Formats: sequence, structure tokens, C-alpha cells
Amino acid sequence: MTSAGHNLLTDHPALYEARFPDPDRLAARWTHDCLRRHGAGNRVLDMGCGTGRDAAWLHGAGRAVIGADLSEAMLAYAREHHPGPEYVRADLHGFDLGRGVCDAVVCLDSALLYCHTNDQLDGFLSSCRHALAPGGLLVAEMRNGAYFLGRTDLLDTPRSDAFTWHGTVHRSVTTLTVDRTDQLLRRRRLWTADDGSEPVEQRSAWRLLFPQELRHLLAAHGFEVLELHDGPGPRTEPLWREGLLPGHTTDADRLHVVARLTHTSTGTTTGASTGTTTGTTSH
Ligand SMILES: C[S@@+](CC[C@H](N)C(=O)[O-])C[C@H]1O[C@@H](n2cnc3c(N)ncnc32)[C@H](O)[C@@H]1O
Repeated sequence: MTSAGHNLLTDHPALYEARFPDPDRLAARWTHDCLRRHGAGNRVLDMGCGTGRDAAWLHGAGRAVIGADLSEAMLAYAREHHPGPEYVRADLHGFDLGRGVCDAVVCLDSALLYCHTNDQLDGFLSSCRHALAPGGLLVAEMRNGAYFLGRTDLLDTPRSDAFTWHGTVHRSVTTLTVDRTDQLLRRRRLWTADDGSEPVEQRSAWRLLFPQELRHLLAAHGFEVLELHDGPGPRTEPLWREGLLPGHTTDADRLHVVARLTHTSTGTTTGASTGTTTGTTSH
């Protein structure tokens, strides 16, 4: 067995889209609705844009969009398959695309949770503050750390999955565990394929971010929380659809936040980083 630094899904963006289909672009529509309801300006930065499908939909809706990701494979795929936005390589943990270059930063499908440490979260929020025009918005959608308080239904038991892609059957066995010391949800996934290739083990992790912790972090970085809720959203049950308004609880497994930058400089000690593009992609 090999232990891959690479990632089957982010190294194969077409496969990623096939595994996590969003044919109606619900994530992009939900984002657009949040931006519209809160009167955001036109310029959007999609951090952790992945295949670019949401960035391109927002571009098609008339917005000026920059899509940013750490994965070169994702960026190349986005440029070819979802053209329109400008695509750039940047690290969530600290990026500098220019001061006030956007009116909204969006961060979808738990991309924000690739900030594992407090320093990385501070780096992300400082960088957002630098990138946003005054009054700009942060819109994020992710797993909810609070869901795992007292619930074990998603944990510790291996889950098997299989799918066929380009004639090869790929099987995965996935186990999620809670790392209480680092406050991370860790995922171990073992891939096998019926094409004779060696099994590959991949490990990744998401920060277990709690709603009140997120409120505190946002306030410390000069953001006012406008919405913080567990649905409806683009990956909730039931799904969000046009016309539905945000709820008020933060109990279910997805967390949605909309926050406005109200103070462009704060007392926090972490400054926006100087465009670092190092780090590991860990989807
Ligand atoms: C779950 S995918 C979400 C993609 C896209 N936002 C969507 O909703 O389809 C997470 C993305 O974050 C990217 N990513 C992971 N760590 C990153 C980092 N440190 N900086 C920038 N992007 C990162 C991955 O390459 C991947 O494309």
C-alpha cells in the first residue's frame, strides 16, 4: 500500500465533480442569494474554488469573480471547464491578492475548515480583511463542529463506497475520528481499484469549528455576524431553494455564516500574509 501525499479527488477534478454532483448549482445560487439579500457589491473572491463550478456560475450571473485554490490540478481544470473567472493559486492560510480587491469572499463546502490551527484561521481572516472593500461580506458554508458534541453516528465505523469511473471500479473505505487534542475531524480513506493499481491510503482533516468560537473569531477580526445557522443550505436536508430564509439554530451538521467587515483594522496581532502559496492540499 502507498500512502499518498496526493489526493485522488483533488488530483482528478472531473472525478471530484462526478462524486459530488451539484447539477443545479445550488451552492452558487445559495451564495448569490446571500450576497443579494445583503446588498454585496459585484466583485467576488471564491477561496478554495475547487473545480470552479460555483465561481463560473457566479460569473454567469454577472459578477466579477476570482477563483483561488491551492491545487494546480483544480485550477487547470477550472480554467478549461469553467471559464470566465480569473483563476489564481493562493493559500487559505494567508493570501494577498491586493487590498480591497473584492466585495465578498466566499468559501464553500468546508474549504474554510482546511484552516486547522488558530494561526491558520487568523491568517485566513486577516487575509480576507485585507482583500475586502469596507463593508464587504464573508460567506462560508461548512461542516458544523457542534454536530459532533454527543453524536457519534458519523464516527469510528468504516463506511464502504464504490463507483465506476472511466471503466475502472474504485472502492473506498472511510473512517472518521475525532481528534480532541487538535480539535480536528480526521478522515482515513483507503482506495482500491480493479485496474491492478496498488491500494492508496489518504488522510485528511477538517477543523472542528464551533458556532460560538466562529462568532468570537469573526468579531476579533472586525466582522459582524449577520447570519449563523444550520440551514436551509445547499447541502442540508431539506435543501435550500429560492425564497427560503435562513434559520436560527446551529445544531445540525452544516454551518452557514454571513458576516460583514465593519472594522478594517483591529487589535488582532496577525497581519495579512504576504502572498504565501505554500501548504498542503488535503481534501
Ligand atoms: C471540498 S473542496 C471544495 C471546492 C469548492 N469550494 C466546492 O464547493 O466545490 C476544498 C477545496 O479546497 C482546496 N484547498 C485545500 N486546502 C487549501 C488551502 N490551504 N488553500 C487553498 N485551497 C485549499 C482544495 O484543493 C479543494 O479544491
